[in-house]
Amino acid sequence: MKSLASIVLCAGKGTRMKSARAKVLHEVLGHPLGTCSIRRALEVGASPVVVVVGHQAEEVQKAFEADLVGAPVTFALQREQLGTAHAVHCGRPKIPKSIKEVLILYGDTPLIRSQTLAALVKAKRSRKTPVAMVTMVPLDPKGYGRVVRDDDGQVRRIVEDKDCTPEEALVGEVNAGLYLVDAAFLWKALERVGQKNSQREFYLTDLAELAFLSGKPVATVSAPAEEVGGVNDRVELARACTALRHRLNADLMRAGVTLDDPESTWIEEGVRIGPDTRIGAGCVLRGATTLGKNVRVGHGCVIQASSIGDGAQIKDYSSLDEAKVGKEALIGPFARLRPGTELADRVHVGNFVETKKAKIGKGSKANHLTYLGDCEIGAGVNVGAGTITCNYDGVHKHKTVLGDGVFVGSDSQFVAPITVGRGSYIAAGSTITEDVPPDSLALGRARQVTKKDYLKKRKAG
Ligand code: UD1
Ligand code: CA
Repeated sequence: MKSLASIVLCAGKGTRMKSARAKVLHEVLGHPLGTCSIRRALEVGASPVVVVVGHQAEEVQKAFEADLVGAPVTFALQREQLGTAHAVHCGRPKIPKSIKEVLILYGDTPLIRSQTLAALVKAKRSRKTPVAMVTMVPLDPKGYGRVVRDDDGQVRRIVEDKDCTPEEALVGEVNAGLYLVDAAFLWKALERVGQKNSQREFYLTDLAELAFLSGKPVATVSAPAEEVGGVNDRVELARACTALRHRLNADLMRAGVTLDDPESTWIEEGVRIGPDTRIGAGCVLRGATTLGKNVRVGHGCVIQASSIGDGAQIKDYSSLDEAKVGKEALIGPFARLRPGTELADRVHVGNFVETKKAKIGKGSKANHLTYLGDCEIGAGVNVGAGTITCNYDGVHKHKTVLGDGVFVGSDSQFVAPITVGRGSYIAAGSTITEDVPPDSLALGRARQVTKKDYLKKRKAG
């Protein structure tokens, strides 16, 4: 049924990055550069998306797979980077026979929008041509392939920067590197692409001339240079990242999210935020993070792969990683929720409290200076200031269980494994080493000794 597939070219080294890492591995707003084009291809329904890898193929494949879990993406190897046409040729065996059209994208154009790809599809189908491509008019065409048109305005051919005559170099319209091609035309044309150019490479851009010679010149769609410009060095990488960030921030604000300072707010693609949620300056929201509605996030919070329930408040400078926070919970300021933290509705976790693999029940509170690791805490528990779960014996981690309604006095330690039954009291300053049954009082500290008038007597000799 599916008739559209995509080939995304990611085999090049990216010499101008001056990096030991392949260009497509450098990150744009938290995602590997090369995956941006892939996501757009998936959005317009291309399946499969064949990624051509070569330089650092294994690392690239690993990073992309981790970033695109579950998507119909496969990989093809281009051992030697002999040019963009050769790269497409390497991807061909992974394209099913039933595919009618192939969307070809480059891995270094992270800002393309799926609307532009949809326009490309429309242009090709309505004009009934075998090839459609996107062009742009950048401020400076240097480095790009120039689009050479004949007197009738038809695309005659594309000339790479290094092969331009002085006259051709003056052409302002350039190839953006996004193509939609009839599969049958593509496979035939690739066999006819030669290496007669200054770089001795197989140029995919030769498709334009082959289409012209076949009597069916390419259809073109124009796009703004800010959207389809390539990333070739680290300056362009940073610019692309900023542009993408502002675009996503604007989308969120239009969908009902308040950003106090969009300039300083870093929200990665894939983060979901409900309406009337307000986010303070300098926040970073990464990975598979979900915020409900009416959530308030203070300034300088870093939230990674976490979910926050409706109406919760995450106060200034809190750090959350793989944590679940229930509705109307109150977190921070300066709280640190580490992986495996699961907080039920209306839990309070205050300043300088660290949690890890901690399940905390409805309405429980740990408001000050506390470490809760490997623990299960019931509902309505009050954890006093300075409480510590001693979860590690130097070899293994052990669990602390506190039943519903337990009251923990300040400065207490639980030497795990340990269980405190529901409704019990732990006296302040206790080191608890034995299980406590329900509804009991446990004291685990030295008895106070007061020596009356001791100092008065000492002074008197
Ligand atoms: C290419 C186009 C140029 C266009 C520009 C738009 C060609 C010949 N030129 O030039 O017309 O204006 O993009 O940004 O296509 N790649 C491979 N295998 C290879 C060579 C390249 O996978 O053998 C990949 C690269 O990893 C990169 C993409 O193809 O993602 C484009 O290659 P690049 O070298 O950046 O091409 P440009 O010189 O920018
Ligand atoms: Ca490029």
